[in-house]
Amino acid sequence: MCGIVGYIGKKNTKEILLEGLKELEYRGYDSAGIAVLSEGEFASYKAVGKLVNLEEKTKDFITDKFAVGIGHTRWATHGKPTELNAHPHLGESSYVVHNGIIENYAQLKKELQNEGITFLSQTDTEVIVHQFEKNLKKSEDAFQAFKQTISELDGAYAILLVTKAEDKKIFFAKNGSPMLVGIDTDNDKYFASSDTPLIGHCTDVNYFEDGDYGYVSADEIVIFDKNHQQVEPKFKKLSTNKLSAQKDGYRFFMEKEIYEQSHVIADTLLGRISDTEVIFEELDAKLFDGIAEIKLCACGTSYHSALTASYMFERYAKVKTSVEIASEFRYRDPMMTQDTLFVVISQSGETADTLETLKMAKAAGLKTLVICNVDNSSMVRLANTTILTRAGIEKGVASTKAFATQVTVFWMLSLYLAQLKSTLSQSAIKEQIELLRAVPSAVKVQDSMHERIKRLSKRYLHGHGFFFIGRDLFFPLALEGALKLKEISYLHAEGYPSGEMKHGPIALADPELFTIALLPKNLLYEKSKSNVEELSARDATVCAISPLEFDKADDFIQTKKHPNYMLEFFEMMVVVQLLSLEISVRLGNDVDMPRNLAKSVTVE
Ligand code: F6R
Repeated sequence: MCGIVGYIGKKNTKEILLEGLKELEYRGYDSAGIAVLSEGEFASYKAVGKLVNLEEKTKDFITDKFAVGIGHTRWATHGKPTELNAHPHLGESSYVVHNGIIENYAQLKKELQNEGITFLSQTDTEVIVHQFEKNLKKSEDAFQAFKQTISELDGAYAILLVTKAEDKKIFFAKNGSPMLVGIDTDNDKYFASSDTPLIGHCTDVNYFEDGDYGYVSADEIVIFDKNHQQVEPKFKKLSTNKLSAQKDGYRFFMEKEIYEQSHVIADTLLGRISDTEVIFEELDAKLFDGIAEIKLCACGTSYHSALTASYMFERYAKVKTSVEIASEFRYRDPMMTQDTLFVVISQSGETADTLETLKMAKAAGLKTLVICNVDNSSMVRLANTTILTRAGIEKGVASTKAFATQVTVFWMLSLYLAQLKSTLSQSAIKEQIELLRAVPSAVKVQDSMHERIKRLSKRYLHGHGFFFIGRDLFFPLALEGALKLKEISYLHAEGYPSGEMKHGPIALADPELFTIALLPKNLLYEKSKSNVEELSARDATVCAISPLEFDKADDFIQTKKHPNYMLEFFEMMVVVQLLSLEISVRLGNDVDMPRNLAKSVTVE
C-alpha cells in the first residue's frame, strides 16, 4: 500500500505535496519523496523513514511559482526501503510515482536493459518512466507516448508522471488502485490516492474509474476511459469534514477496517508468495540456524494471533512452539535458552509489556523477531529482524485488520519454515499457497451476511454471559471473538475450548447463557458438534457459525463451504467481528473509542 499526491498551480507546491503525504502516511511510511517541475527545471527529494525526514530535507526548498509536482509515500513491495527505491523515479527528464504492482515489469525491464537503459532501483515502478521515455523518442508527442506506455503495462496501478517534454502537465492513469483529482476555487488541480488530502483545498472531486487515463494542465482536465473515449469529469462536492471522510462512508473506523481486510491481506501477501514458495526478503534463513524452539510473546489480540501461530508452526513446520502473555512472562523468572527464537507480536510496536520482554530476550542473548504493523516503532528498532504486517493505520481501538494480517504473516511464516526444514512436500506447499491467495476473497464482507448479523444481533443484548467456543485454531479465534465483544459491548464474554466446557463452565448453561459456536466443516467437525449438543441439551442459547446446517442451534449463521479450514477461519473471523460491532451499535456504545481503553498501551 502506497500513497500518491499531485498538484498543478501557483500555490506553495512543496507544502501542498507534503501535507497531502502526511494524510496518506497511514498507507505506507518506509520512505517518501517529491518531484517538482517549475520553469523547466526539476527538483526532487527523497528520504527513508517517516515523512518528517523528508520535511527536514526539504526545509530550505522554496516553491513560490507556477509548478507541477508529484509525491509518494511508500510501503516496500519490490525492493527494500532505501532512498534509491523510494519514488519518484527518474528517467532522463521525467519522474513517475506509482501505487500498485506492475506484473510484467521483469520482462519490460529486461527489454529496456538490453537496449542499454540503466536501472537505479529494484522497483517495478522504474520501468514505467523508462518505457515512457523510450516511447517518447519515437513519438514526439508526450501524451501519445504516455498512452502507449499505459497500454504496455499489466497489473494494478495509479500513476502520475511529469516530464520536461510537457512541463506544464501531469499525466495520470488509474487501474485497480485508487486515485482522484480535485479542483479548488482558483481552478488549481490536485491528485491523491484518497480524498482526505484534498479536504480543505478542493471544493469538487472526480474519482477516476479503472482504465481512465489522461492529463491535466492549468486550464483543463482531459480524461479518456478504458475504451479510449474522451469523457467529462464527474465532479462531486467534497466533504469538509475530515473525520467523516476518513471513514469512507462507513459508520465507524472499526467497520471500515473490517471491510478493508480483503485489501490489506492482499497487501500482506504481495511479493511474499510465488506459485511454489513463500519469500520473505526481510528474513535471513540463518535466523533459524540452531533454533530448537520458537517462543511467541504478546498481549491481547496479538496474543491470540500468536496462539494461532503455535498451531501452525507445530503442524506445518514441526517446530516446538510456546506462547506467553507478555505481562506474565516479565515477572516469572522465565528460562531463556539460546536455542530459542524469541518472537514478539504487536500492532503498535509500543506495548510496554511486550517491549520489555523483547529487551529481556535481547539481554539474554536470544535471537529476536518482531511481527509488527508500525515501522520505526520501538520494537522494530530494537529487534534483530522485523516482518511488517502491512495492515495500514488501525484507528478503531478494537483491533481487527491488524489481527487478520498477523495471522496471515504467521501462516506464511509457518510455510517458510516448512520449506526450510522440508516438513511439507513441494505439492503441499503449493496447495497452501493457493489457499493463501484465496484469503482476500474469503474475508470480503457479503452484504447478505452483514444484514443477517445485523438482524440477529438484537437477540444478544442481554443475558448473563457469552461463551465463544471452538477447537484447535478456532479456540484462539473464540478467544478473539470474546475479546472483541467484551471491548465494545461491555457484556461479559469468554473464549473457551469447546471440549473443555464440560469440565466446569457447562454448569452455567441456561437460556440466558449465549454460546457462539465455531463449527468449521474441515476441522474436527463431529467432535465440536457433540460439544455444542451438550450445551443445547442443557438449554443454553446457541448461535452456530458453520457452513453445515445445524438443527440443535437457536440461531445459525451460515458460512461458505470452503475447501480448507484456514479459509473457514478467516471467514468466521469476519463473522465474529461483525457480530460484536452490531451488538455494540445496538447498545449505543462508542464503537471506535470504547470506555477505559486506549489504542496503544505504553504503561504496564
Ligand atoms: C484488542 C486490542 C488489544 C491489543 C493489545 C496489544 O482489540 O487491540 O488487546 O491487541 O493491547 O497491542 P499491540 O498489538 O499494539 O501490542
